[in-house]
Amino acid sequence: MQDVFELPGPPSNTIVGNLIDLSNDPLDFLSQCRDYGDIVPLRLGLTPICLLVNPDYIEQVLKDRDTFVKSRGFRVLKSLLGEGLLTAEGESWLWQRRLAQPVFHQKRINHYGTTMVEYTERLLQTWHDGETHDIHADMMGLTLQIVMKCIFSTDVEAGEAQVVANALDVAMHWFESKRRQNFLVWEWFPRPENIRYSQAIAQMDEAIYSLIRNRRNQTDQTNDLLSMLMEARDEETGQQMDDKLLRDEVATLMLAGHETTANALSWTWMLLAQHPQVRQKLQAELQEVLQGRLPAIEDIRNLPYTNQVVKESMRLYPPVSIFGRQAARDCTIGDYEVPEGTVIMISQWVMHRHPKYFENPEAFQPERWTEEFEKQLPRGVYIPFGDGPRICIGKGFAQMEAVLLLATIAQRFELDLEPGFPIVPQPSITLRPEYGIKVRLKQIADMN
Ligand code: HEM
Repeated sequence: MQDVFELPGPPSNTIVGNLIDLSNDPLDFLSQCRDYGDIVPLRLGLTPICLLVNPDYIEQVLKDRDTFVKSRGFRVLKSLLGEGLLTAEGESWLWQRRLAQPVFHQKRINHYGTTMVEYTERLLQTWHDGETHDIHADMMGLTLQIVMKCIFSTDVEAGEAQVVANALDVAMHWFESKRRQNFLVWEWFPRPENIRYSQAIAQMDEAIYSLIRNRRNQTDQTNDLLSMLMEARDEETGQQMDDKLLRDEVATLMLAGHETTANALSWTWMLLAQHPQVRQKLQAELQEVLQGRLPAIEDIRNLPYTNQVVKESMRLYPPVSIFGRQAARDCTIGDYEVPEGTVIMISQWVMHRHPKYFENPEAFQPERWTEEFEKQLPRGVYIPFGDGPRICIGKGFAQMEAVLLLATIAQRFELDLEPGFPIVPQPSITLRPEYGIKVRLKQIADMN
């Protein structure tokens, strides 16, 4: 056994460790770390960190939720998401996951497919040939509307839902500015942006509680996510979620359920514009299978190339590009000793572009995703949705949404990048384009 911090790693500053490299360009820095070995020691100030590059180690860590708990970065989210699924730990997490898992069963979420296509169709009616759009802003708006409709059966424009959407926006800006300051300016310090943040959370809470109260008083049947969560009951104890936990769950689903998918689609539009031959092949498949009609959930399995495009796009631009755990006790990873408190960093960006597993790793090649290729790929390599017991609960929902939205839009419009507009991946809580993505819309002539 060897102490992980005796292994070779990149040079670090005596006081701040690797802080500067990790803040300046984390994706590039972590990719370079790949060359040091399977597990790479780093330091952020006094906090010991190690980056995992071996897929077996990644699998081990993600499977063992007792030894490896969520890291500090996630815990900061608690001021917004409380004790919802994403941020909870231990028994509380297990109880919630058992209750929420059936709510996300594919059969139960399939009917949201219609909502997804309907809202996309609505958006397309506002699009016109030749217009310039920030496609990232459009995708954020669309996926937020969809998730709100799926949670509350209500339109974003309607009263409380609008308040919740606005509050989420303020909160996300707050998080971004705190991230830039490395969370050094705490939320209780009475700076204007902190006051705005606290007010936004208070307004969001009020709106969500009001939606929950109304639902409790409602007599007619609704089968949205809120109702399903309210009705979920522990089989052994009969216990249900109280209002506080419902609030946390709803805030979690709204945040986790829209920004990630919006990013996945935004990067896909960028990649399609940069690869006209892929775009043509995609359009040909859509034309052949759908023949101009709107897609439905049953079409997804008949659109293999569309599915491959989404998979390959999430390989190159994983919506969650860095995540982590923290060792709750002294432990081992593979043959290495890891002290309690060590932050374990896992990066989809680093793994998804690893030359050992992907030929020509920087190239956008949807065709690489054959069944045989997937079968031989070690488990911890391609992990856009994480893995182990805490794997994304919305994976099925997100995959369905990405394919349906892509199929609906790509049949009608071609999106070309605005020349000279800077597209900069910003690895925040999710990997988003820092300045958005400016595109010019080109309406495709109706072929039917
Ligand atoms: C392309 C879209 C998405 C991506 C790439 C994504 C990615 C992820 C990842 C990597 C995790 C694991 C985090 C960790 O282990 O620390 C996660 C967890 C989670 N995601 Fe997603 N997600 C997506 C869409 C969604 C959607 C649509 C929903 C809900 C409607 C959702 C809800 C959640 C929740 C609640 C968790 C926490 C699960 C738990 O800890 O039990 N996600 N997601």
